[in-house]
Amino acid sequence: MEIITVIKDMQARSDKMRQEGKTVVLVPTMGFLHEGHLSLIREGRAYGEDLVVSIFVNPAQFGPGEDLESYPRDFERDLDLLRKEGVTAVFSPDAQEMYGENFQTFVELEKLPKHLCGLSRPVFFRGVATVVTKLFNIVKPHVAIFGEKDYQQLMVIRQLVRDLNFEIKIVGTRTIRETDGLAMSSRNTYLSENQRISALALNQSLQKAQELVENGQKDTFGIIDTAARMIRSHRETEIDYIAICDPETLDDMETIDRPARMALAVKVGKARLIDNILLKPKVSESNFKKRSRKADQ
Ligand code: PAF
Repeated sequence: MEIITVIKDMQARSDKMRQEGKTVVLVPTMGFLHEGHLSLIREGRAYGEDLVVSIFVNPAQFGPGEDLESYPRDFERDLDLLRKEGVTAVFSPDAQEMYGENFQTFVELEKLPKHLCGLSRPVFFRGVATVVTKLFNIVKPHVAIFGEKDYQQLMVIRQLVRDLNFEIKIVGTRTIRETDGLAMSSRNTYLSENQRISALALNQSLQKAQELVENGQKDTFGIIDTAARMIRSHRETEIDYIAICDPETLDDMETIDRPARMALAVKVGKARLIDNILLKPKVSESNFKKRSRKADQ
C-alpha cells in the first residue's frame, strides 16, 4: 500500500494507473475509520483494481466553534485497517499541501446547501464541494464512493459532478449501523454511555416515521412532531432539524404522496449526529390496480 502526501506524486501515480488501463476508485474520508468506511471500501473494490482512500480532516468544512481541533484521529490504526482491506494507495496530505498560502477558489452550490445541515453549518458544503473537487483533480478517479448517511453531501456531490462535467461515476452506499441501529460515525466516540442510549432515538424516530407512513399517514407535520417528541424524551438531546423533503431538490414536503427523504440532525451531548431514511408511501389497492393497468397498456 503506497502512502502519498504530496499532490504532484498522487497525480503522477493516477496518470500511470490510467495509462495502464486500470480503473481508479476513490473513497474520500476524514480518517478515524469504522465499519461504515470499510463498507465503502469493500463496495469500491467491486468497481476497479486501483483502490485509493484519502484521509484528510478538511479545515474548510468546519465552521468557527466546531470540532476541527478535537476531531478524532488515529492515522496508524487507519493504515492497519486499510492494509487489511487490500487498499492500493492512501492519499493523506496536510492542510498546507491542500490549501497553501494564497488559496482563494471555492466551489459553492446555489440551492442544495440552503436546506437541512447547510442551514446550521453555513460553510460546510462549500468546504466539502471544494475539497472533493480538489480530490477529484488530484486522484483522478473513474469512480468515487460516498455513504448515504451523509445524504445531503451525496446529493451535493452528484450535483457538482453534473454541473462541472466530471467524468466520474458517483456511487452511494447504504448506511451501516451498530447492532442496536445507531448509524456509524466517527463522532460516536464523543458519546458517554448514557448519551449513547439517547442517541438511539435518532434511528428509532426514523423507524417510527416509516411505520406511520406504512400505516397510511401522509401529513409530514404530524410525522415530524412524533419524531421530535420521541427524541426530546431522551436526556441530553437537542434537535437541530427534522425535515421531510423531496429526495432530489431537498425542498420540504407537506404530504407524502411520493417517496420522501426524512433527515435529521440532533446534538447529543457535544456530538452532532445525523441520520436519514427514505419514506415510501403505501400504494393503496385501487392506485395499485390503476398503475398496473397503465403499465399493461
Ligand atoms: O464525509 C466525509 O468524511 C467528508 O465530508 C469528505 C467527503 C471526506 C470531505 O472532506
